[in-house]
Amino acid sequence: MAQDSEKRSILVTSALPYANAPLHLGHILEHTQTDIWVRFQKLYGNECTYVCADDAHGTPIMLKAEELSMSPEELIEMIYKEHKSTFEDFKISHDNYHSTHSNENKILSERIYKSLDAKGLIEKKVINQLFDTSRNMFLSDRYVKGTCPNCGAEDQYGDNCEICSATYNAIDLKDPISVLTGTEPIIKESEHLFFKLSLLKDEINKWLDSSKIQEPVKNKLNEWLEADLKDWDISRDGPYFGFKIPGYDDKYFYVWLDAPIGYLASHLNYLIKQDCEKDFESFWSKDSATEVFHFIGKDIMYFHTLFFPAMLANADLKTPNGVFVHGFLTLNGEKMSKSRGNFISAENYINNLDPDYLRYFFASKLSTGVDDIDLNLDEFKQKCNSDLVNKYANIASRSAKFINKNFDNNLSETLDCPELIKEFKVTSQKIADHYGKLEFSKALKEIMLLADKANQYVDSKQPWVLMKEEGNEQLVHSICTTSLNLFRILTIMLQPVIPGFVDKSLRFLKEDKIEWSSINKTLLNCKIDNFEAIVTRIDDNHLDKLMGN
Ligand code: MSP
Ligand code: ZN
Repeated sequence: MAQDSEKRSILVTSALPYANAPLHLGHILEHTQTDIWVRFQKLYGNECTYVCADDAHGTPIMLKAEELSMSPEELIEMIYKEHKSTFEDFKISHDNYHSTHSNENKILSERIYKSLDAKGLIEKKVINQLFDTSRNMFLSDRYVKGTCPNCGAEDQYGDNCEICSATYNAIDLKDPISVLTGTEPIIKESEHLFFKLSLLKDEINKWLDSSKIQEPVKNKLNEWLEADLKDWDISRDGPYFGFKIPGYDDKYFYVWLDAPIGYLASHLNYLIKQDCEKDFESFWSKDSATEVFHFIGKDIMYFHTLFFPAMLANADLKTPNGVFVHGFLTLNGEKMSKSRGNFISAENYINNLDPDYLRYFFASKLSTGVDDIDLNLDEFKQKCNSDLVNKYANIASRSAKFINKNFDNNLSETLDCPELIKEFKVTSQKIADHYGKLEFSKALKEIMLLADKANQYVDSKQPWVLMKEEGNEQLVHSICTTSLNLFRILTIMLQPVIPGFVDKSLRFLKEDKIEWSSINKTLLNCKIDNFEAIVTRIDDNHLDKLMGN
């Protein structure tokens, strides 16, 4: 348990979901991983703030709004509400959920851009790009297709070829076609602004050495750093949905410039709401003792480990203390794909099952690895039924009966087996270490070993047999009290993972406020509530409904 003197002050983020579509279970995986860590930090006594936001800018959002005959502002407002309520459904405990299309983000993006400019790190260059004359807009790589200049494969996007893996410039595509209009684009010049990343290699290397980053991620970054870093194009011409670049009429910040700044903006917005705006500058100052950690998927490492730290450092702001990267969620062994029907929307899940099952399953798979994580529905059902119903909740249900029926809901004054309680308490430090190191699957394995021990203890004592003989009341009373204390310790340990089930358990134990150190307390000679089912079994019917059958 953190003492006041060593209490850490931590800011945690999950990647900002794009505001053009509902959330899917991949997003929920990321936010669950983050949320478990945040809940653990809070339970452990650290000061921890969890912020996120919708990523509201960019061409896809502008086009999606057009498709729906809405303004981009209306679209992002609608999606914002949906996202926020879905995250609440999954018990994701953001302290603040903001939007990158906000005043705070505009101010911070301009401030950071101006600092970079003042340091001579912004360079103007005229570049050639494909331009759709019927839409009057420049086409980014995703909006043009053509023939690969390397291998001749047709129907390839403007950045790389799926057949031969060549990367190229969209203007080098042969027979390019605009995805938006089907017309042939022309090549047109435009002045763009570049962030001179090529000058910052040493600085990025230094940051990398001093940050918490998983080994495989570091290796990938070193590969990138060994090749030369290219300057980064941070401007886009209108029409674009984003922030205008100061000093220009029709130029906007590229969405990936203001998106990560959205982390700071959400934090600032949170502080403003708490009336603590003044804390912002010291929190984000270069020498601040606060800690910042970003949780992201493996597809957006480049932005978070190269561009973003380089931007912050050169705006004289605090750089991240760590970036935690996770793999992608697959479903029944295959890539999630809406069009191929291998897909579960967050909404469909929540309409059918309690979020804590999924949180538990994800946690049982999560470690510091960056491998993909598979949601195999049969394994999911089996794991939840076996661990949560047969092991965890069973401890309470089999002991509560006696306390409720024979002892007027009172726990005994003495324990039957204090050594076992002691063993649970001692093991709790190991489990806390696993949580802190993001080794959730290891934490749950340890917790389930303890649950097995609790069940074996009750099996060996057989209170249901003892109760049949007169004179054993006191013994049965202290056996069941021991077992409920074991259950209570497991409940506290599981709180970061299954907060909803844990709330039910705590109501049954008549406990309202717990922290990690509450593990050291023992409940004796006090009232508990009548037992009601905490976790029910998942059956095949639930699974069919999840897949939309
Ligand atoms: N808007 C950007 C992030 C900006 S952060 C400053 C973005 N949005 S996203 O909606 O496409 O993805 C948000 C997060 O979800 C990313 O971390 C991404 O890796 C993660 N995932 C998207 N699909 C996923 C899976 N199938 N599985 C796990 N995570 C996945 O990228
Ligand atoms: Zn090719």
